[in-house]
Parts: sequence; structure tokens; C-alpha cells
Amino acid sequence: MDSGWIPWLPEAASSLAGQVDALYFYLSGVTAFFTLLISGVIIFFVIRYRRRSPFEIPRPVAGSHRLETIWTIIPLMIAMSFFVWGTNVYFKQVKVPALATEINVVGKQWMWKIQHTTGQREINELHVPKGRKIRLVMTSEDVIHSFYIPAFRIKTDVLPGRYTYEWFEATKTGTFHLFCAEYCGMNHSGMIGSVVVMEQKEFDNWLTGNGNNQTPAVAGQQLFQSLGCASCHGVNGEGGRGPTLAGLFGRQITLTNGGSVVADEDYIRESIVNPQAKIVAGFTPIMPTFQGQVSEEQLLQLKAFIKSLHIENPQQPVPAASPASSPAQSRPTPQLNPK
Ligand code: CUA
Repeated sequence: MDSGWIPWLPEAASSLAGQVDALYFYLSGVTAFFTLLISGVIIFFVIRYRRRSPFEIPRPVAGSHRLETIWTIIPLMIAMSFFVWGTNVYFKQVKVPALATEINVVGKQWMWKIQHTTGQREINELHVPKGRKIRLVMTSEDVIHSFYIPAFRIKTDVLPGRYTYEWFEATKTGTFHLFCAEYCGMNHSGMIGSVVVMEQKEFDNWLTGNGNNQTPAVAGQQLFQSLGCASCHGVNGEGGRGPTLAGLFGRQITLTNGGSVVADEDYIRESIVNPQAKIVAGFTPIMPTFQGQVSEEQLLQLKAFIKSLHIENPQQPVPAASPASSPAQSRPTPQLNPK
């Protein structure tokens, strides 16, 4: 739906914007219709059934089951239409399509730090190609922020200590507003920026023009070595005293308590800052915490590295959680504080 004719509505520039607007118009239309209908009927009744003499006694009114059924069923159906339509749009908004290009976003008082998987960094600016699905993986270094792009009709809170996600597909080139939509301290109102949507070719030029950046996965690999992760998880994440990391991302993991968890961004983050929270079946809780030693951006880099570890290397064992291979046997000399 094109809503360009409404002056106070932000431009609609994403694949979802039209659907959000259509729902919004429907809600507004139904609300306006009933507001007018009910006020009209009230005014009509006030005049029609006004008291005409001081001693007038009204006629007793008996109930009508038919009328009551009608005015229950119709509003129920209208309310259900809100629910079904709203849920439909909501799920489209929160379900990230597969194959979306990932971009990392870290909010902090008072700026947005953005990094592309190809390494390019931006502050308070987000360059994206038109017509491609983009998935934002977002977290905060301090307080709650909210990443809001009105033209794309998306807004998601950005929380410290966990990841939230948001996706869009821009349908128009141009520059659009980017806001923080959660009061986050003194300069909250200054936590703004712009989203620049470019044609794919232009975007590719922009990417190469801003090259020479280490990709998050490569930076993550270096961190993986310098923090000593490799001594337990293997240089290529092939595993050892710690679980295998190659091929881990997105898989279902069995835990020592018998439960299971999908190895997503949040699981990886938690396993680094609070390794005791979920222990993979067959392993012992020997990993030290890295809380305070790695920044949010570094956590995203480690995540990118782990995500990049596919099972390509044939000599790598496939299962991450193979309880059969007891870590005790393969344990070399105890070395609890690797560097
Ligand atoms: Cu960040 Cu408001």
C-alpha cells in the first residue's frame, strides 16, 4: 500500500512497511467508524429519548437475546481480525528469513557501532544495498537502547547481556532516519543516525572503498588464539578438553542436565561469559569465565569466528557433544589458566 499521500507518515521504504501501514489503516478505520457510530447514536438517543415532562416514567425494557448475540459476535469477529492480521504481520517481522546478510550492531551511550561481516565499521550510519534481506544482530554495552528505523517500520530493543534481532529489506534507495527509541540517559536524543540504502552495485563500491578492515571472523580467530581458547577447543575448533566448535553453530546441543539447547548467538555468548551455565554432555565445568575480558564487539567477533567454522576439514570429528570420547582420556597436562 502506498501511503505517500499522508504527510505525517514516514516514507515507506521496506518490504514490510506497506503491510504495517495497511494494518494500521485498518485499525484506524475501524476505530474511527465505531467512534463516529457510537457518538452519533448517543447524540440521537439523547435527543430522541429526552425527558419531556418532569413526571414522566419510562416504559420498562426487557432484554433481547438476539440483539445481545449480535453485538457480541460482531465485535468478537472484529477483534479476531485484529488478532489474526496483527499476528501475521508480527511473525513476518520477527521471523528472520534464511540467507539474510548479517550486520552486527552494538549500542552504547550514545552511539551506534555497526560492523559488516566483511569488516567495514560505521558509527551512527548504516549502509545497505536495496532489495537484499538484512539481519541485524544487536546488543548493548551499557543500558537498554532501541534500534528504530521509521521508514522500514521496525523497532527492537537492544539489551545489555543478550542479543536481539531485527530484519528488513529496503525497497527504495535514499537516506532514512535512524533513532534510539528508548530513553537511555542524557544524550538519548542525540543517539541518532542515518540508514543509507544504495543500489547493489553502488553498495559494492562502497564496501571496497571502505576496505582494509579485518572481518569479524578473522578478528575472532585472533582473539580465539590470544585468549587461549585453542588450548581446549583446538586451533580450528576441532575440540579437545572442551567441546568441538566446528559446525557447532545452529545445532542442537545436549547438556549434562539432560536438557538441550540450540547453539545460537545467545548460547555462544553465554558460554563465553558464563561457561558454567550450560555444560555440554560429556564435559566437565572447567572453563573459566571471560566476563570483563572481552567487549561486546569482541564477543560478536568470537561468535563470527565460531560461525565460520564449518565442518570442511575432514580430519575434524563431526559431533560437538560426543559423550563417548571422555575428555578425561584426552586431557593433556592440566592447564587451567591458559595465558
Ligand atoms: Cu540509546 Cu536512547
